[in-house]
Amino acid sequence: MSERITDAELIRTAFKAMENAYVPYSGYKVGAALLTESGKVYTGCNIENASYTPTVCAERTAFFKAVSEGERSFTKIAVVGGKGGEVSTYFVPCGVCRQVMSEFCDDDFSVIIAKSETDYLLKTLNDLLPCRFSPQYLVDN
Ligand code: THU
Repeated sequence: MSERITDAELIRTAFKAMENAYVPYSGYKVGAALLTESGKVYTGCNIENASYTPTVCAERTAFFKAVSEGERSFTKIAVVGGKGGEVSTYFVPCGVCRQVMSEFCDDDFSVIIAKSETDYLLKTLNDLLPCRFSPQYLVDN
């Protein structure tokens, strides 16, 4: 349960992941660093496609890498993004990525929306996607 990485380190890892973004169409680079409850970090970048719709966001890359490795419990994610990799605004996760987070994370899952290692917003999943459709709705009762 203990966290072995600081917010600044998680943000630095997201910046590093952003370097691998494959963005020949938008030029908009995004990086994510996802922390598991056990203290492991999975990174992700956005990966675009000539057919456009198969494009996957950085956050989902990180989640899908982690889930495919057997992870199910997550504490926080740091995200950064900007045109050409220049991060000048607070980059916020898209709705689809918020919904993917909601599949695996509780209300208090933290989303670090960063401009730099020291300049960032701290949101919860509930802040970003209140009143969401979650796995709970599919449980028989
Ligand atoms: N993108 C992400 O990686 N994450 C988001 O949450 C929103 C958008 C990517 C997709 C695409 O490669 C580029 O940003 C421009 O939309």
